[in-house]
Amino acid sequence: MNWRDPAASDKHYWHRFSAFYERHFATLGEVSSILEYGVLDGASIRWLRLLFPQAEIVGVDILPVQPSWPVGPGITYRTVDQASRPAIGRLLHDLGRRFDLVIEDGSHFPPHQAHCLAETFPLVREGGIYILEDLHTSHPRHSYYRDYCAPGTPNCLHLLLYIEHLRATGQTMRPADIGRLAHPGMFTEADVSGLAAMIGRVEIFRRATLPLRCYACGTDDFDPVALVCRCGVDLDILSADSMTSVLYRENCSFVNKKTKKLYSMM
Ligand SMILES: C[S@@+](CC[C@H](N)C(=O)[O-])C[C@H]1O[C@@H](n2cnc3c(N)ncnc32)[C@H](O)[C@@H]1O
Repeated sequence: MNWRDPAASDKHYWHRFSAFYERHFATLGEVSSILEYGVLDGASIRWLRLLFPQAEIVGVDILPVQPSWPVGPGITYRTVDQASRPAIGRLLHDLGRRFDLVIEDGSHFPPHQAHCLAETFPLVREGGIYILEDLHTSHPRHSYYRDYCAPGTPNCLHLLLYIEHLRATGQTMRPADIGRLAHPGMFTEADVSGLAAMIGRVEIFRRATLPLRCYACGTDDFDPVALVCRCGVDLDILSADSMTSVLYRENCSFVNKKTKKLYSMM
């Protein structure tokens, strides 16, 4: 695999998210500020650089800057552990800006997805997009749910499915739902009601096709009937895999106390 290739991201060859994203990116207009959680080998940063040559791009990872990560004007990196919600808050405070586009593609642990969403979504500009990638790890049938959530714990998947349902049926969230979706270590009631007010539209994508190539062996030597790669990897057509979400920031006047404080410093 050639890591200098922007298409080397699993967004493209395994999950097949990139074409779905690019259709949504077309709605953004001018993009000047991008944040991505999760850098790995920098393939996604390269892809974003190609799509948005003028944008300031911040890559955030638990790792310090790696030799393989792309460098150049407008690209900066920050080291943060998504396990710490206060650390994410401090990072965003230090960056002191709003974002046209945020991609959360970090650890994929359900509480980390919730921390990043609750802290970062308020800083997406109106009409901007927040991508919560690999949402399938918050599915109760996924091993990360079993490892990181007590049975019955609501997380980002539950919240986003419910907000999408409310938008599709033209309803607003009831107080009882707010309490039901809040959970210590995941979302407070203020997070739930704030996100329900700010997220205008939720688009959920789940791959229903074969990947372009296998994430383990790099080939497309697939058994077309068993739906496995000949190296043994399941192509995950029906399991909890390759699910992502695009969340649009509502044009609304809602700001919680903390966000208001943050905005007043910019
Ligand atoms: C799926 S990869 C990112 C892939 C990249 N966005 C792409 O598409 O090319 C996940 C990244 O999250 C980082 N990561 C793992 N745990 C983390 C944590 N607790 N906080 C921040 N980053 C973390 C890993 O170091 C890794 O680089």
